[in-house]
Amino acid sequence: MINLSKDFVKICPSIAAGDLMNLSREVQRLEEGGADAIHFDVMDGHFVPLLTIGVPFVEQMKKITSLPLDVHIMVSNPDNVFQNYIDAGADILTFHAETAKHAHRIINSVHKSNAKCGLALNPGTHWRDIEFLLSEVDQVTIMAVNPGFSRQKHLAFVHEKIKQLAEFRLSKALSFCIQVDGGVTKENIRALVELGASVFVAGGAVFNELDYGVAIQQLKNKVTN
Ligand code: DX5
Ligand code: ZN
Repeated sequence: MINLSKDFVKICPSIAAGDLMNLSREVQRLEEGGADAIHFDVMDGHFVPLLTIGVPFVEQMKKITSLPLDVHIMVSNPDNVFQNYIDAGADILTFHAETAKHAHRIINSVHKSNAKCGLALNPGTHWRDIEFLLSEVDQVTIMAVNPGFSRQKHLAFVHEKIKQLAEFRLSKALSFCIQVDGGVTKENIRALVELGASVFVAGGAVFNELDYGVAIQQLKNKVTN
């Protein structure tokens, strides 16, 4: 039975979709609005087309908020750089299965640094590619857009992947959470929870709205109403 209570669902606004010229104001509005974590989209301009924010932003952000920093590194060389983001203050470090040379080693190193570790899958990547790592990770991030931009159209074909992954998790009594990243809206969040996801990145769904708190609550209310 899928747990459809509001506190079961976590909303992680993607700060790269916010007003980067007023970061501290954005963070304050997210805190007041009840965000569960801040999602940090690190893009290197190689693995994905855009170049966004990096280690200095994470360090600065850590100084101004107690919200967990959910750092998503969309980089071509995660093995070389992941530790920099942990040291900068990432509470959850999510890297891509498509670019890691030694994913198991990264996961172990992240845990040794007392942080949580997520593994992200692009829309076209099968969850079975990381089957032998599922007992090690804290979170699997299912990309529902091709990474590199916020405010894109949600790719509903990944719902089958979420369903299969949730069934596998149940069959093996594993404890990782399923995060959906990309095009999450009030219209699709309930279906995603029913499939087995519980953590949601929200870029446009929050930052397109005037009141971030209302946007976050509307997403959560859609799960229980
Ligand atoms: C895409 C990023 C996502 C994106 C989410 O590469 O990883 O976090 O910014 O933004 P929305 O929710 O607008 O798709
Ligand atoms: Zn992301």
